Amino acid sequence: MCGIVGYVGSQDSVPILLEGLRRLEYRGYDSAGVAILNGQGLVVQKAAGKIAVLEGLLNGSKPRGTLGIAHTRWATHGEPTTVNAHPHVDCKGNIAVAHNGIIENYVTLRKKLEEEGHRFTTDTDTETIAHLIEKYFEGNLERAVAAALRHVTGTYGIAVIARDDPGKIVGARHGSPLVVGICDSEYVLASDVSAIIRHTNQVVYLDDEEMVVLTPQGIHTTTIREETVSKRVETVDWDLEKIEKAGYAHFMLKEIFEQPQSLRNTLRGRLLAEEGTSRLGGLNMSPAELRAITRVVITACGTSWHAGMIGEYLIEELARIPVEVEYASEFRYRNPILEPGTVVIAVSQSGETADTLAAMREAKRRGARVLGVCNVVGSTIARESGGGVYIHAGPEIGVASTKAFTSQVAALALELTRELESIPDKIERILAGADKVKAIARAYARHNNFLYLGRGYNFPVALEGALKLKEISYIHAEGYPAAEMKHGPIALIDENMPVVFICTQDSAYEKVLNNMEEVRARRGKIIAIASEGDEHVATKADHVLYIPRVLGPLTPLLSVVPLQLLAYYIAVERKCDVDQPRNLAKSVTVE
Ligand code: AGP
Repeated sequence: MCGIVGYVGSQDSVPILLEGLRRLEYRGYDSAGVAILNGQGLVVQKAAGKIAVLEGLLNGSKPRGTLGIAHTRWATHGEPTTVNAHPHVDCKGNIAVAHNGIIENYVTLRKKLEEEGHRFTTDTDTETIAHLIEKYFEGNLERAVAAALRHVTGTYGIAVIARDDPGKIVGARHGSPLVVGICDSEYVLASDVSAIIRHTNQVVYLDDEEMVVLTPQGIHTTTIREETVSKRVETVDWDLEKIEKAGYAHFMLKEIFEQPQSLRNTLRGRLLAEEGTSRLGGLNMSPAELRAITRVVITACGTSWHAGMIGEYLIEELARIPVEVEYASEFRYRNPILEPGTVVIAVSQSGETADTLAAMREAKRRGARVLGVCNVVGSTIARESGGGVYIHAGPEIGVASTKAFTSQVAALALELTRELESIPDKIERILAGADKVKAIARAYARHNNFLYLGRGYNFPVALEGALKLKEISYIHAEGYPAAEMKHGPIALIDENMPVVFICTQDSAYEKVLNNMEEVRARRGKIIAIASEGDEHVATKADHVLYIPRVLGPLTPLLSVVPLQLLAYYIAVERKCDVDQPRNLAKSVTVE
């Protein structure tokens, strides 16, 4: 889950590469580097840390050249040091490689290459590719890259340049995303469109086992077996303004406040409120095929998995079809039973999460019908699924997912049309009370443990609230079904344990009140998310955050918002890097 960008054209490439890296920094920020081809040959500059460190380094001696590649890293093999930063070069300093993914057989390849006399200088898997290309290089870069890749197992999105075959960038993908931006006699290669749309909205998505050669004269795509492939140029409907902070302190806060609009975009054209039904154009399933569904398996990771859990409750309650929600990383290795009539739904904001992609491919391999619920248009999961739903939440840059979660839940809840239409306005009312959340966050920002409790539809929301706090404030937090607390976690409760209860007035209300009493009896501090007008809950909790009333199954779309804000304001209080939390990245493209 690194970010790669490449440029070939007539402009000075360094400013373009640095700007592209800044757009991709949410994919990984352990180290960064550039490799430029110019009259002096191949110039490589790299530095550990954020892109700003590299910029500082380049300000001193900015290499100039109209062709280059660059990389921002999320370390998998080899510590995040300057030496291990990409791009990596071969023994002669002729070839430079920027890589996103994991070379699984790098140890074997490295051993063989060292026996053949290659000298390795880093601990990374990627350096192996540079030496492998060097082994096959006889003056034509794309031929050497193709030959090298036929020995590689694992995942890759790579950009390669060579001093001894100048004037071109060679890109290739297997498992990690790669997109080409088409401009007039210049091309931008990148891991995703956010690094491209400043230049053009005309793009070509590479598929697995495909390579591309970019020169100022044009673009040529082949397979890694060197068979020519013709590719469709697609138009991206995002604009630059959408990936800017628009005056907010962080992308996460902007995306939390964008939820009324992102939800309206998710619902637009899909709600047929008069008929009390909805339309999902992209499923590619006939009414007969839909009626023939006997079982649904939802597979996803992280926040998308939490949205999937709410989807399970919704589909079982509304469509009366049995549903299971599977961690994608477990599902694909668990020899799952997928009998005819089973539909597998892969839920993913980025559409590039390797575990979810692998689970989806495994389900397809076993003959199941696979649908995708994705946000990023043109992403691999979207393109490889048999149909599905784009949630149209717009670009989500903050690593902690927020608006994609509510849009995923809305997409899975499209049955409940009339009530869904009221949700965006109700979220606006919650956001208007953000200052109250900020005050509670200030009071609890120094605590190091939190418990989140909810029942029914709000149990996955408790999990999601805990995940948000963990990933951006580094506070240990756990989400639990409220009743499960008695079977262990209650031992953690004392006056130092803040407990967040989602206690809205639905079928589980009375039971949750009992659980609150159990926590109060052990002097735990209670923050309650409650339904507007519920005075009673205020007698049980230290703090209450009210949300508008809504049908039970849709409560998660509202109850999650104060939890997103709480995590955000606590992280800000603790001076954490909210948009780029340590050790994380936005789309996890390695297993
Ligand atoms: C959530 O805030 C995290 N960024 C992470 O758990 C994320 O939900 C997970 O990696 C899945 O990503 P996806 O939706 O892009 O597949």
